[in-house]
Amino acid sequence: MRILVLGSGAREHAIVTALLSENAGHDITIAPGNAGIGLDVPAVALDATDAELVTEYAIDNDIELVVIGPEAPLVAGVADALRYRGIAVFGPGRAAAQLEGSKTFAKRIMDAAGVPTGRAHRAETLEDAIAALDEFGAPYVVKADGLAAGKGVLVTSDRDAAVEHATFWLASGGVLVEEFLEGREVSLFLLSDGHDVAPLSPAQDFKRLLDGDEGPNTGGMGAYSPLPWLPEGFVQEVVDTIAVPTIRQLEHEQTPFIGLLYCGLILTPGGIRVIEFNARFGDPETQVVLPRLTTPLSTLLYAAATGTLEEAPTPEFSSGAAVTVVLASEGYPAESATGRVIEGLDEALRVPGVTIAHAATQIVGNDLVSSGGRVLSVVARGADVAEARARAYEAVGMISLEGVQFRTDIAANV
Ligand code: AMP
Ligand code: GLY
Repeated sequence: MRILVLGSGAREHAIVTALLSENAGHDITIAPGNAGIGLDVPAVALDATDAELVTEYAIDNDIELVVIGPEAPLVAGVADALRYRGIAVFGPGRAAAQLEGSKTFAKRIMDAAGVPTGRAHRAETLEDAIAALDEFGAPYVVKADGLAAGKGVLVTSDRDAAVEHATFWLASGGVLVEEFLEGREVSLFLLSDGHDVAPLSPAQDFKRLLDGDEGPNTGGMGAYSPLPWLPEGFVQEVVDTIAVPTIRQLEHEQTPFIGLLYCGLILTPGGIRVIEFNARFGDPETQVVLPRLTTPLSTLLYAAATGTLEEAPTPEFSSGAAVTVVLASEGYPAESATGRVIEGLDEALRVPGVTIAHAATQIVGNDLVSSGGRVLSVVARGADVAEARARAYEAVGMISLEGVQFRTDIAANV
């Protein structure tokens, strides 16, 4: 199949790696990609958020399937433009992508579909926000109502910090004050063709920068899959009580969701609750979910894109585990140092079960250098989480990058 993957992070590298691992002779292109992905498949310098350019490229190159990695092209309407021209695309249109882009939209859909989630209040004024903070009480949860690149959410027991966060985001679009939900977090991805869904394997993400879940929120510092501690029947419960009702509500509203429904969940003592939806594969969870997938990814994505998920094979996963540790630049997530030389990847790749997904790398002269915040995802597979974790950290120890930041407790004590 001729496949175009849009995006430039480790998630997209993991998608490309999974497609290549089918050994099906696919003709895969990445746009715009990065240095690491470009070593595996051709990269074209295309602005992935430019609907017209992407569509033109897809038509000119007889692309049969477009896979959209990040949220920005979704919000920019790239999927709509491709679909309008009859090109199969894995990724929701602009309207359905609001499930991620607008927390107010997501809450309304969940309400209408009867999906369990925390109580939330959209504040219009600071007085309104403060009243909601005091009503829900500490710890406080304050969220920007829109795409904020992972920086919009503050969970704190410091009321002054909560008020300050609300003040900042009120000035730039809107604020949601939420009830704090207590419990373990799970990311569950489901493929959707607009009507049916097919769940992938659950994963856990580590969102805080520092060990012990300290420090600021980030895009994600590591992940593992599967989650041996999940109660039996968890995935089916999410399908029945969360994913199907949500997808059917969107279908009913004539904004069908075709693509990846990312359910950010929390297992509270009172049951499973949705913290957030995303409209795309998660990063870094994708790096641990896809290596375990034994069903051809292209078959699944194409079936979702063409409304034929019901006839497609059920996604199956290997019994082993995968762990990923993210290597981030000095200064991330505030301001990331770039242009630092990365060494040791060849040695790291010799550790059994290890692959490396590039997130922000560039080739300058003869050097591979960092070019953003999250630089690499070191991924390891193993018979169980402990083995995968040991291999991932062995590989991490072989990579040098000045000022590198990574967590040492990813998938510890599972
Ligand atoms: P979000 O961007 O909505 O996923 O939020 C980022 C992180 O903040 C989540 O992964 C949670 O760890 C935390 N968080 C968000 N909302 C809540 C909530 N209502 N209760 C507790 N923690 C939350
Ligand atoms: N890992 C969190 C996200 O992709 O949003």
